[in-house]
Amino acid sequence: AASAPAAVNVQAATAPVSAAAKDVTVLFGSQTDNARGLAKKFAKKLEESGYKVSLSAMSDFKPNTLKKLENLLILVSTHGEGEPPDNAISFYEFLHSKRAPELSGLRYSVLALGDMSYEFYCQTGKDFDKRLEELGGKRLVPRADCDVDFEEPAAEWMNAVTASLGEGVPAQSAGTAAAPLADTGAGTEYSRSNPFCAEVLENLNLNGRGSDRETRHIELSLEGSNLKYEPGDSLGVFPENHPGLVDEFIEAMGWQPQEPVAAGKSGGQLPLREALIRHYEITVLTKPLLEQAAGLAPGSGIKELLAPGREQELRAYIQDRDLLDLAQDYHLKGIIPAGDFVKILRKIPARMYSISSSPEAYPDEVHLTVRAVRYESQGRDRYGVCSTLLAERVQAGDKLPVFIQSNSNFKLPENPETPVIMIGPGTGVAPFRAFLGEREESGAAGKTWLFYGDQHFSTDFLYQVEWQRWLKEGVLTRMDVAFSRDTDQKVYVQHRMLEKAGELYKWLREGAAVYVCGDEKRMAHDVHTALATILEREGGLSSEEAAEYLTLMQQQKRYQRDVY
Ligand code: 2AM
Repeated sequence: AASAPAAVNVQAATAPVSAAAKDVTVLFGSQTDNARGLAKKFAKKLEESGYKVSLSAMSDFKPNTLKKLENLLILVSTHGEGEPPDNAISFYEFLHSKRAPELSGLRYSVLALGDMSYEFYCQTGKDFDKRLEELGGKRLVPRADCDVDFEEPAAEWMNAVTASLGEGVPAQSAGTAAAPLADTGAGTEYSRSNPFCAEVLENLNLNGRGSDRETRHIELSLEGSNLKYEPGDSLGVFPENHPGLVDEFIEAMGWQPQEPVAAGKSGGQLPLREALIRHYEITVLTKPLLEQAAGLAPGSGIKELLAPGREQELRAYIQDRDLLDLAQDYHLKGIIPAGDFVKILRKIPARMYSISSSPEAYPDEVHLTVRAVRYESQGRDRYGVCSTLLAERVQAGDKLPVFIQSNSNFKLPENPETPVIMIGPGTGVAPFRAFLGEREESGAAGKTWLFYGDQHFSTDFLYQVEWQRWLKEGVLTRMDVAFSRDTDQKVYVQHRMLEKAGELYKWLREGAAVYVCGDEKRMAHDVHTALATILEREGGLSSEEAAEYLTLMQQQKRYQRDVY
């Protein structure tokens, strides 16, 4: 397409596509808006090329119309341990049920988003792709699986799909079909692929002396970036690896810190040490990485670990280990040239943090609430890459590469009078500071209720002064706290919710929207159970009815979660 004369493209852009390829349905399933953003962009391009496009979230799609579709494009991310995102669950279940229709008239393709550092990489996309084939659908183009740096492979998939959709259309449309879809913007818009260097204005520890925790409150300037965000959105931060870890790794591999190596795909070269600090991920082991390492170090024994039947052992090995462990455990010193090794490394991915400021309250600023991750494993101290960078090596005046990640699945109700219930223990409280700031600035009339918890009242009550001010001024109507380690018996936010079941049920009956942010596996799961219990106990629902009610609340966006 790149070599096609411009004049052909211009003409083609307005040329109608053939009737055969006219209707295209684009469905997305998205937890954090990446799949949604791509789907919207792609739908727009297809529309401009003359297709009749119907775009929606999977949760808004009527599955009984599936049988009539000609062209279906699915863009879906994978969540947690290979699960579909919340707004994909109902469609996913329908498609995998006996009710799913035969689809031999359907042409389709799947774009799967995921994170290579997870075992069930792109699993939801793979499931959709396989299932649509089983039901008789014909692939337009093969599925594309995208790692966190999804922009390029996604653009390639879109180009391939567009070309394939256009096959058999009159010759003059061919230019449209293959027109490049990648961003050709002038570079003025900041995004994941073009992050803004934000100045650090403030970096404080929110925890008191003696706490087990260290939670940083970080204020960044967005001045001059033209970046906009809403409460509920996240900020992506590109971190750097700890120089000490990089030095140990270089030593363990027998390399020279100053030898030049490639730094990313751009083709530029950097001294090895700098490239490892700034460009490459060295703290996560994955099966694909080990496979490639085994290829570079044939006699090292890595290959044996990947043998069939040793899956459990492999899983246990890669858990909580990094490249330094690999180098030491498999005696890689002096075996692999640095230039070859960096080629198998993943680009260091951005870390996403729920924004803790309201842009109305703090124009041109964005605030984060970040807990330093430190733990011990395999006899070594381990440090969360980004959180400990922020805690230990970043100060006011420094700059950080950042971008805004919208999150349409975590938004305040449109109606300012709708009551809001917020459940956010620990750093899960971050977006609620943004919510309340927003409600204060806009003068919203709706009631608000915050459930907060952490280990100790005296040292771990994040933003205590702010909540108290908001309580006094009526921006926050109620607050219940659970400090788990101040009493003999552990008490968690869900216990407080159950204690207040009657009142909480009343709020739900009044149409309150419920927001949960924080730990997924334990907290959000237990909070979900508590909500069901409250519906059963106070509303007299059966457990099935309570589960259905919560699903309905999710569909109506009255129950939203930002969990990790
Ligand atoms: P704990 O560490 O004392 O057990 C924020 O991290 C708070 O969440 C802490 O007080 C922590 O308590 C608590 N927490 C741990 N597991 C939880 C769960 N299953 N549900 C709710 N809160 C939990």
